[in-house]
Amino acid sequence: MSANIRSLLSVITNPVTGNSLESENRLELVDVQGDKVVIQYQRDGISPQDKRVIETAIYEALKTSYPMSNITVKTSSTSSQDVYKAVEGNTITKAEEPQQPAQLKTGHGSIGNKKSIEGVSKIIAIGSGKGGVGKSTFTANLAVTLALQGKKIGVIDADIYGPSLPMLFGKRNEKPKSTPDKKIIPIEAFGVKFMSFGFFINENDPVIWRGPMLGGVLNQFLFDVNWGELDYLLIDLPPGTGDIQLSMIQNANVDGAIIISTPQDIALLDATKGLEMFKKLKLPVIGMVENMSSFICSNCDHEHFIFGHGGVEEAVKKLETNFLGSVPLEIELRKSADDGKPYMSNPQNAGRPVFEGYQGISEKVHNFFHSPVGPANGKSGVISKIFGFMNK
Ligand SMILES: Nc1ncnc2c1ncn2[C@@H]1O[C@H](COP(=O)(O)OP(=O)(O)OP(=O)(O)O)[C@@H](O)[C@H]1O
Ligand SMILES: [Mg+2]
Repeated sequence: MSANIRSLLSVITNPVTGNSLESENRLELVDVQGDKVVIQYQRDGISPQDKRVIETAIYEALKTSYPMSNITVKTSSTSSQDVYKAVEGNTITKAEEPQQPAQLKTGHGSIGNKKSIEGVSKIIAIGSGKGGVGKSTFTANLAVTLALQGKKIGVIDADIYGPSLPMLFGKRNEKPKSTPDKKIIPIEAFGVKFMSFGFFINENDPVIWRGPMLGGVLNQFLFDVNWGELDYLLIDLPPGTGDIQLSMIQNANVDGAIIISTPQDIALLDATKGLEMFKKLKLPVIGMVENMSSFICSNCDHEHFIFGHGGVEEAVKKLETNFLGSVPLEIELRKSADDGKPYMSNPQNAGRPVFEGYQGISEKVHNFFHSPVGPANGKSGVISKIFGFMNK
């Protein structure tokens, strides 16, 4: 079997020399374990960019035989460094000659053991079947809502295609620093600690090059960030249900998943795939949220059901999962996202349908883990306590 793989890999060249890895005796290991394969090559003299080119070529060469999530690519070299190192007054920058990202530790594959993070009580993955359904806006506002309720919250923006948390939290120009023991210090805003791909990737990098960085960097965000004590760590996943999303979360000890959908049939169909993905990973699904469920007109306060009504609530019955609640379309929510001030951080929004929606959802999420009967079905609870935390 490994001989077949070796022949598939014979086309992979070292971009520096143009010779095949095989002819340069760089292919050190091709190990097939059931439906998974581990490949190791010698990478001395190969730049991080060329390493990404090689790894993308490996995934391409093997894609008809193995899904990306089942391929682990390791490298060996004569020296070893982390993907990021602290230089210049503790500012985290890409290492000049990064050795292996944390891929080396757990890779893209499912071979590593699932790990918990010390001090972090629950990890929640937030996914959507398709892009643009409001997943990042939801993640940021759920984080702020939980923080306002006195919980200690962290957020990982794992969306390489469109990292948006720095913008949503008004921290676009921040550069994360590191502790003396090389732990990345998360950025803090609105009572929430967060870390984002946006702080590290070069927006001009072709997306295909970002793929191979994923497993490793997400692992760094999970395990090499100074999260401290957290009640919840939320992960904003890239949209979709492909190998990338799967490989990102299969090594982390995720406690539950939330799926965001809009009410249209087509979005729901995709959201169903998201649900299947989480089930495949044997991840407890906390439930589904309907975003942009209706439009509240700011002139007349009338509720318009532009995309239909109750689609997600209907769907969860068939899918045997929980309905966590709905968040209507409101112009102010979009504006606050663009202004970098999450809607839920503004006390003037208290009592509005979006605000109530987030409160109800955050309670159901909390109850999922802390109530013996699972998520509560009631509406949101007491609002008055919520700003006590902010005003401290
Ligand atoms: N309930 C809402 N009311 C009004 N605007 C909203 C609402 N939810 C999201 N938006 C807006 O919709 C747009 C898309 O939202 P967002 O970026 O959060 O989606 P996403 O699912 O994370 O997208 P992507 O797939 O690109 O990551 C943003 O402009 C956001 O402000
Ligand atoms: Mg997003």
